[in-house]
Amino acid sequence: MVQAAGHGCAEQANGLFIKPTNSTEINFYTSMSALDSPLTDLMPNFLGTLAETKTNSNESNSTNTSLSTPVLDSSLSEQSCIVLEDLCEAFEDPAVLDIKIGSVLYDSHASEGKKQRMDKVSQATTSGSLHFRIAGMSLIIGGNRIHYGKDFGREATIENVASRISEFFKPLTSEYKEYILELSIGYLQQLEKILNEVKIEMHSSSVLFIYENNMEKLKSKFEHINSTGNESMKYDMNLQLKNKVQIMDMRIIDFAHSQCAETIDNDCLVGVRNVISAFESISSGTRPRYEINK
Ligand SMILES: Nc1ncnc2c1ncn2[C@@H]1O[C@H](COP(=O)(O)OP(=O)(O)O)[C@@H](O)[C@H]1O
Ligand SMILES: [Mg+2]
Repeated sequence: MVQAAGHGCAEQANGLFIKPTNSTEINFYTSMSALDSPLTDLMPNFLGTLAETKTNSNESNSTNTSLSTPVLDSSLSEQSCIVLEDLCEAFEDPAVLDIKIGSVLYDSHASEGKKQRMDKVSQATTSGSLHFRIAGMSLIIGGNRIHYGKDFGREATIENVASRISEFFKPLTSEYKEYILELSIGYLQQLEKILNEVKIEMHSSSVLFIYENNMEKLKSKFEHINSTGNESMKYDMNLQLKNKVQIMDMRIIDFAHSQCAETIDNDCLVGVRNVISAFESISSGTRPRYEINK
């Protein structure tokens, strides 16, 4: 199971990603689906909720839990789980990068203590200055899976955050790297466009990037796409998915502090535009041109 960041309590099985969560995240998925919001194009497919039931094992303190059958929303509690499509399923070996978006990392329900703690984290990291920070990443370099924990992103500065992101692409030859960067920028521009239309408020949500980190598989997927002679397939992710040759993916995830709102989320939009600048600078080898909050 590969996770770039987060609490690590989720489970992946049979194409499903099951995560314990709060009612805010479940409400967000339910509302976006009900509204048929364009944002759902970039969210993992939402398959429903499950109630987590504790099994009474003899070791009373064990954290043995099992998943019960789906329940209706009326019984939602802190122990509910959300069932999403497993975005890693399409990849033999996924490389995963989680970038947290926005400078305000808590919602209005947070306690004063939490607000202060989160403000401190924001101010001390690129969350405050650039409205995004690396939350974590996991990739295979030289045959070993390497996990970059939260400090890797917390310690990044305005000057070096793009070069830290570029480490994510280290296993790739320049040809694959260029292609995956180009697809990523396309996704980010699509996200920017959608966030300019959809009235929501997001705090601590992430954009999740995944690419095929198994080099043999990547080569064969790439060859398959090229052999179809279908140029449009190269940049059409739905076609790639349909042909089971997904090279990369990008989605927006983690809505435990996100909700519908009266206005669009300008705080997160700055972050998305700055992530685009970082990716463009990696692609062109030039300095990123950020919108910076001093
Ligand atoms: N639908 C998904 N499919 C596959 N992996 C996922 C999915 N959603 C999240 N992840 C992985 O789990 C990590 C944590 O997910 P997230 O929703 O941010 O949970 P948390 O609330 O613990 O922060 C992400 O960094 C990513 O690697
Ligand atoms: Mg998260």
